[in-house]
Amino acid sequence: MNKDKGQLIVALDVGTLDEAKKLVYTLDGLVDIFKVGSQLFASSGPEAVRSILRLGKKVFLDLKFHDIPHTVASAVRAVTAITESGQGILMCTLHTLGGLEMLRSGVVAAQAQAQIGRIAKPWLVGITVLTSEEKEDNITGLVLERALLAKQAGLAGVVASSQEAALIRRELGDDFLIVTPGIRPSGTAPDDQRRITTPQDAIKNGSNFLVVGRPIIQAKNPAVAAKQILEEIKTAVS
Ligand code: C5P
Repeated sequence: MNKDKGQLIVALDVGTLDEAKKLVYTLDGLVDIFKVGSQLFASSGPEAVRSILRLGKKVFLDLKFHDIPHTVASAVRAVTAITESGQGILMCTLHTLGGLEMLRSGVVAAQAQAQIGRIAKPWLVGITVLTSEEKEDNITGLVLERALLAKQAGLAGVVASSQEAALIRRELGDDFLIVTPGIRPSGTAPDDQRRITTPQDAIKNGSNFLVVGRPIIQAKNPAVAAKQILEEIKTAVS
């Protein structure tokens, strides 16, 4: 897995593992990385992650850990220990609001557990400000401040809207991952998202990973919707 710009991640925000697996089959050949969030993890747990790994896909585990450092370290150790045939999760999220010590404790735990399990260390990425929050005057500064904290703690990158991505890219360099949700191809409903962006703009602003949920998983034909977004990505990258 590389750090190229504009890689598509589909959010499996569904209630059951059967529905999630059906989406993975439907999108086979189009999508390589799937996000397991709190809804699917709450219903199906680590087995959801293992099932997706078993289908040969990568997993972005988005549980947004935010707790005392000891608890976060234990949680990161536990999710890093979820493996299938020598593969672990690709990425997982911690909330930067937890502060430097909490973020560092996660980094140390991921490293230690990856060594024990002899797997690649997952990329830990920090949530900055949710894309469902309105754009307010100070939001860009706040996102940048949290991105700097994430970098200082040793995280691989952040989750941020494309509206802040260009600034993060400029300030934190090419090696820092930017994961962008709130992607809405023009003409699709924003749902509860507020700081939305098209795939083209997200790529232009430097996002490495574009997270798309409802525009694909609730489409009449998820494969067609994914293909359209992949086309937009291809045009923007080339
Ligand atoms: O359906 P939609 O495309 O809005 O889904 C976006 C996904 O990205 C959801 O699973 C949501 O939990 C997640 N996410 C987000 N904003 C963040 C971090 C994660 O929308 N800052």
